[in-house]
Amino acid sequence: MCGIVAYIGDKRAVPILIYGLKKLEYRGYDSAGLAVINNQKLEVVKKKGKVGELAKSAELKGLKGNIGIAHTRWATHGEPSELNAHPHLGCNGDIAIVHNGIIENYQSLRSLLIGEGHKISSETDSEIVAHLIEKFYEGDLEKAVLQTLNLVEGAFGLAIIHEDKNEIIAARKGSPLIIGVGKDEMFVASDVSAILKYTKEIIYLNDNEIAKITKNKVSVKNILGEKINHKVEEVKWSAGQIEKNGFKHFMLKEIFEQPESVQNTLRGRLYDDKVKLSVKIQPNKVDRIIIVACGTSWHSALIGKFLIEKLVRIPVEVDYASEFRYRDPIVGKNNLVIVISQSGETADTLAALHEAKNKGANTIGIVNTVGSTIAREVDSGMFLHAGPEIGVASTKAFTCQITALLLLALYLKQERNEPLDKKLLKEMKKLPQRIEKVLEYSDDIRKIARKLSRCNDFLYLGRGINFPVALEGALKLKEISYIHAEGYPSAEMKHGPIALVDENLPSFFIAQKDKMYEKNLSNIEEVKARKGKIIVLGTEGDQKIAQLADYSILLPQMCEEISPIVNVVVMQLLAYHIADLKKINMDKPRNLAKSVTVE
Ligand code: F6R
Repeated sequence: MCGIVAYIGDKRAVPILIYGLKKLEYRGYDSAGLAVINNQKLEVVKKKGKVGELAKSAELKGLKGNIGIAHTRWATHGEPSELNAHPHLGCNGDIAIVHNGIIENYQSLRSLLIGEGHKISSETDSEIVAHLIEKFYEGDLEKAVLQTLNLVEGAFGLAIIHEDKNEIIAARKGSPLIIGVGKDEMFVASDVSAILKYTKEIIYLNDNEIAKITKNKVSVKNILGEKINHKVEEVKWSAGQIEKNGFKHFMLKEIFEQPESVQNTLRGRLYDDKVKLSVKIQPNKVDRIIIVACGTSWHSALIGKFLIEKLVRIPVEVDYASEFRYRDPIVGKNNLVIVISQSGETADTLAALHEAKNKGANTIGIVNTVGSTIAREVDSGMFLHAGPEIGVASTKAFTCQITALLLLALYLKQERNEPLDKKLLKEMKKLPQRIEKVLEYSDDIRKIARKLSRCNDFLYLGRGINFPVALEGALKLKEISYIHAEGYPSAEMKHGPIALVDENLPSFFIAQKDKMYEKNLSNIEEVKARKGKIIVLGTEGDQKIAQLADYSILLPQMCEEISPIVNVVVMQLLAYHIADLKKINMDKPRNLAKSVTVE
């Protein structure tokens, strides 16, 4: 949450900062601001609302400086307002900071500072950082920041400037921060999307590290002040990958990228008769698997449980990372803990990973973002190679996560010397074409969306491996169209939710020709008998179900294991079109942020 970008070099800082903020806006967008050293004077401009409000501000015109820091906010302490927007200054107005994270002991530090005469003007936890640095500053900014960091508890990604200094100080603990290395210029950002246009040479700061950055030098220390040597790494993503490429929204682009992104997850891992992974597991020693994740990634974990238990017969538990971390979970040396995260920065998932490691489990990460904290802290893992996901609602990461879990299940089976089902491997190879086929239904799905966009509630129903797909369909709809939706196992409906069914409530069934088909049919009849509207995701040629439903999408027959990857694309498209018809910018839904780096 919250995005940070900073620049030092010979160019005018403002356009670079605004560009970076626009790229980071998916991390938070209730206010934005920047501070630039303009003729050795610190100048600050802040606006409530999206980055566009800041970008069009006339106050930016006079800012010529070439050192600056900027921030787009997702409120944690204090309402979204200009006052609470970053950057925050100390009393003298010569130090400015931008902060991502939460300072947990800010109340006591605030009282201490007020007692010493500091005037704190915002309601944020972040402002106290500026005042503490000011308190300690005696001409050495890095030293004052180090003293401050030794006092604050919680999480931070920080960029700091002082009007007397030709430098940026950056620091991190628990919130991602990277340094971009250019020619006679340097950048700081929450993630690479903000600076990819300018450089692909990246230094990934670790927790408890502080960097002093001038236009041609970066020196990194740990929190004790000891020097750390960092290598500069090259990112493989191209600047083009973070543009919309003619699509109306990032979400739509990312939905349409799925044939390619799933192919990228499979590449080099799936062969005609085997699976090759570089994870470090001793499958015969694993007696239990625990998968932890949040949100959409948690839904893929539920599908992973189904796949691993079916194919490998090892018991799997799935936990919300936020619950796992606090309930003293039973984890042993023979347990494998899999953490799933698109961003690799989700605070709860990272804390769950630490919990698992402390308890001695072997840990595997299924992560999209290379260089992210989770990716660096797991014992081994699989990258999704889905490319950057910018739309706040996760789409391509979800299908790639399930693909990765399927590969992992097959790998475990193979390493336990059990034969792999060649038919399944063949089916997996066809996944990109299968997804292409679903994408062809986009216009038909829009027509259905037109009929349903005014509904206030939805039910999504599925069974077995497709129950988590129903959960994901409901999550997609509610988060981007603000329509209340619930996902349920189809047969569970009659134990409560059926009371909601009337002619105004659409029920979206996943009811394909599988072993649960007849049961699903009965559940559909139950809704029909109560005049509920029915949408069915069924199997090609199934006229019976098509007649029963008000709207149907029929897809070619496929095997159970790959069906969630294909089916969910229909759910994604329906949610997208409903949100678009409601004129909601689903790339930045209200109250949400892409990367949730706070608890
Ligand atoms: C929903 C969505 C969120 C994320 C969740 C975990 O569309 O994107 O529910 O799935 O915040 O994020 P990651 O996977 O980055 O850990």
